[in-house]
Amino acid sequence: MNPVEIEQAITGLAEQPFDAAEFPYAFLEAFGNKATTIKRLRAGASNKSDLGGVLQTGNIHILSCDAGRVTRTLAALKASPATAKAKAKFILATDGVHFEAEDLSSGETVACAFKDFPDHFGFFLPLAGISTVRQISENAFDIRATSRLNRLYVELLKDNPEWGTAERRHDMNKLMARLIFCFFAEDTDIFVGKGRFTETVAQMSAKDSSNTHEVIATLFRTMNTKREDRAAAKIPRWAEDFPYVNGALFSGSGDVPRFSRIARSYLLHVGGLDWTRINPDIFGSMIQAIAEDEERGELGMHYTSVPNILKVLNPLFLDDLRAKLEEAGDNARMLLNLRKRIAKIRVFDPACGSGNFLVIAYKQMRAIESEINRRRGESDRASEIPLTNFRGIELRDFPAEIARLALVIAEYQCDMLYRGQKLALLEFLPLRNENWITCGNALRLDWLSLMDVGGSGVKLVSDDLLQTPLDQAEIDFENEGGETYICGNPPYLGSRDQRDEQKADLRLLFENRIRNWKSLDYVAGWFIKAADYCVKTSSVAAFVSTNSICQGLQVPVLWPAIFASGCQIEFAHTSFRWANLASHNAGVTVAIIGISMQPRSPRRLFSLSDTGNVVERQCAHINAYLAAGESVIVDKSSQPISTRSEMTFGNTPIDGGHLLLSRSERDALQLTRTQHDRFIRRILGSAELIRGLERYCLWIEDQHLPEALGIEPIARRIAAVGDVRMTGGTTARDIADKPHQFQRMFFGKHSTIVVPSVSSESREYLPCGFEPAGTVVSNAAFALYDVPLWNMALIASRLHLVWIATVCGKLKTDFRYSNTLGWNTFPVPTLTEKNKADLTRCAEDILLAREHHFPATIADLYNPENMPTDLRAAHEINDEVLERIYIGRRFKNDTERLEKLFDLYAKMTRGEGADSRSRKKAAKN
Ligand SMILES: C[S@@+](CC[C@H](N)C(=O)[O-])C[C@H]1O[C@@H](n2cnc3c(N)ncnc32)[C@H](O)[C@@H]1O
Repeated sequence: MNPVEIEQAITGLAEQPFDAAEFPYAFLEAFGNKATTIKRLRAGASNKSDLGGVLQTGNIHILSCDAGRVTRTLAALKASPATAKAKAKFILATDGVHFEAEDLSSGETVACAFKDFPDHFGFFLPLAGISTVRQISENAFDIRATSRLNRLYVELLKDNPEWGTAERRHDMNKLMARLIFCFFAEDTDIFVGKGRFTETVAQMSAKDSSNTHEVIATLFRTMNTKREDRAAAKIPRWAEDFPYVNGALFSGSGDVPRFSRIARSYLLHVGGLDWTRINPDIFGSMIQAIAEDEERGELGMHYTSVPNILKVLNPLFLDDLRAKLEEAGDNARMLLNLRKRIAKIRVFDPACGSGNFLVIAYKQMRAIESEINRRRGESDRASEIPLTNFRGIELRDFPAEIARLALVIAEYQCDMLYRGQKLALLEFLPLRNENWITCGNALRLDWLSLMDVGGSGVKLVSDDLLQTPLDQAEIDFENEGGETYICGNPPYLGSRDQRDEQKADLRLLFENRIRNWKSLDYVAGWFIKAADYCVKTSSVAAFVSTNSICQGLQVPVLWPAIFASGCQIEFAHTSFRWANLASHNAGVTVAIIGISMQPRSPRRLFSLSDTGNVVERQCAHINAYLAAGESVIVDKSSQPISTRSEMTFGNTPIDGGHLLLSRSERDALQLTRTQHDRFIRRILGSAELIRGLERYCLWIEDQHLPEALGIEPIARRIAAVGDVRMTGGTTARDIADKPHQFQRMFFGKHSTIVVPSVSSESREYLPCGFEPAGTVVSNAAFALYDVPLWNMALIASRLHLVWIATVCGKLKTDFRYSNTLGWNTFPVPTLTEKNKADLTRCAEDILLAREHHFPATIADLYNPENMPTDLRAAHEINDEVLERIYIGRRFKNDTERLEKLFDLYAKMTRGEGADSRSRKKAAKN
């Protein structure tokens, strides 16, 4: 169960009449316990309570009690020896009127009316094994509001299916935005009287719900009518108290769909929440899911957390503002200058969704401004930061709508916080009329005109966010002449996941600049637009992106174009998991990259330490692979750049499957021992090597062809290969005259090192193999034939894995190996004979350790959960020996490994590395 489902279940429980005996079971069920678990508790088998309640081991001790005895009962639960023995995390007592609970590890308690206990659902989430509890319990209100609005949304669509069609979707979205505003306004005194909107709907609409839509429509009309126009507009007396809000939010169609009784009660229910607790940073991201069919199941659980957004905004500009604040101390003039600077800053998110980056940026800037005002003794002073300086582009209508609402709410909350309610209220209404969040395709819109570069006034797509594009309205930036910071997390979308129109967006941007643009992720479009924008405006842009644009084959495609524009990487955060709470999505691996024309020095490179903390490293340059160091782009190389043996692609059959044999197909040939030894070989690709699968092939030397053709089933197979090749492509036809053989016939006379072409990213080492004479390697792997074993020590090292992961990139979640891009480019210092001997011993030890666990497969041995200790130790020693050759000690982390590798690579490819001189003499012994 996800948190929203749990919230819904416990809300349902709190609404039912209290049943003392049933409550503990129903409570546990609401937290996702299975029917069988509940059955065992009921039967007493797993119920360890010594007080007549329900005690689930390792979880909770619950006791329903008589009226008025809740506190005493909780004390008894706490003192109960069974509670301690069963290591309960929580105790809970209730009489159906009051409710008390304690988290025994933190000592935190909850005491509330029974009907309100669902407000504290975040407190109990560890019961459901949900570990990101802090994040959720801090946002418990937003989850509850989303869940309830979702119920209302679904119910309204049930009764008004036409409101779900493309034509009316916009009106539906508009309705939800207006309702959210009203719920917020009625709880924050923007409307006179707490709960005024919900109360008015409750009072003025019939209980059978028949006129609910009319009452709501009247209220909306009221909020769209200035006081002086109300008589003429025939606003009824009961609606008179509602303020004029503004044209944009309440203008346009005033239609409201019909409400069923259930929908009406849901509406009153949502209104009953305490909307002062809405958190616009994340609420918007959550709420937008209700308007998306595919996302509704998750109800916004993929929202982006504030700490992750700050990973972008802090280095982009907030750290600098805070540093300047620190520097200013109490110096009134410096503080004033900083305030003026802040007031001019524009923040632009060209894929803003419901505006979370903009909201956080706004709130953080308000915090800094308020500190300035406090130090200057002007705490009451109105903010000079214009909301309209926080611009966005968003493709979808509803999030764009919510983005502006979220900013409006954020502004009010900041005013309340920093200036007090009286002043906040004084200036809040009417809301500004203009739109500053553009609904459109960011890759097609002209960012310069949207951001008013050149001072010609901003051309906006619509003057009413709620309408489809109308007249071009103009809205100038307040406080001209400031800095612009571009930020966001645009859609990533790998090349195969892009729709035709998205491919067309990229074509438009890249076709005339680079070749191979089709392999780029969609997010690359934002980078190139940002680069062009930065060139013209000296802005700084930072996006969250899939890390694939900084790895493997996309690097040589995208980054030379960005660097050619003049932009460089100013700061970056190396790969980390962008986790969220959506159950179907374990999170993607992302990086953050900030670019600008005049990058500030030093460059800042953030990464996660082994313990999960963010560490910052300052450096002179950051390259396109997000390593500290000069700008290098690793290109394919046809031969190794330093000491090591040649690695080739395995043998390609081009055979329609007729040269390859399963064990049963091999046996069906009924060959004699001599025939078998002559014509059958074991063949290994990635899957065979890693999972220990058995596969064979026909391997026929030219001189043995007549004999092979004399064996009827082999002759049939050879003929079938011939047919396949004759009707195949050029390569196939070229080798059609040798249907008894693979395209090439390579194998090791003494031994072969096999390297899979793909391997799971979860493995800590690349799982290469060392195979006996005669083994054939298929084209699903790479091979080094008859080479010294120390080559294997290189391949099996952490250093090599880090290099491969970075320069070869990944295929979904697998490392993708390449001889030309990964092996040939791998920079290795000159190896002495002693080094080679040491590395040979390391490789032997790895093989011996594997041998101890025979017949475990490579997949078993390299499962990170169960890697045998002796094998891990052998790899550790291998790493130790190799890394000492590089720097005389172990590297501290992968960041350091990469930096060294890039440094060496740059030197070697420039011809400075000691080894580059001897590179032509790639080791043969
Ligand atoms: C990954 S979301 C990020 C939104 C928001 N920052 C968040 O964390 O929820 C990307 C957003 O870009 C929007 N989007 C997708 N393609 C777009 C385009 N071509 N132009 C503008 N926005 C687009 C999507 O609708 C989505 O809201």
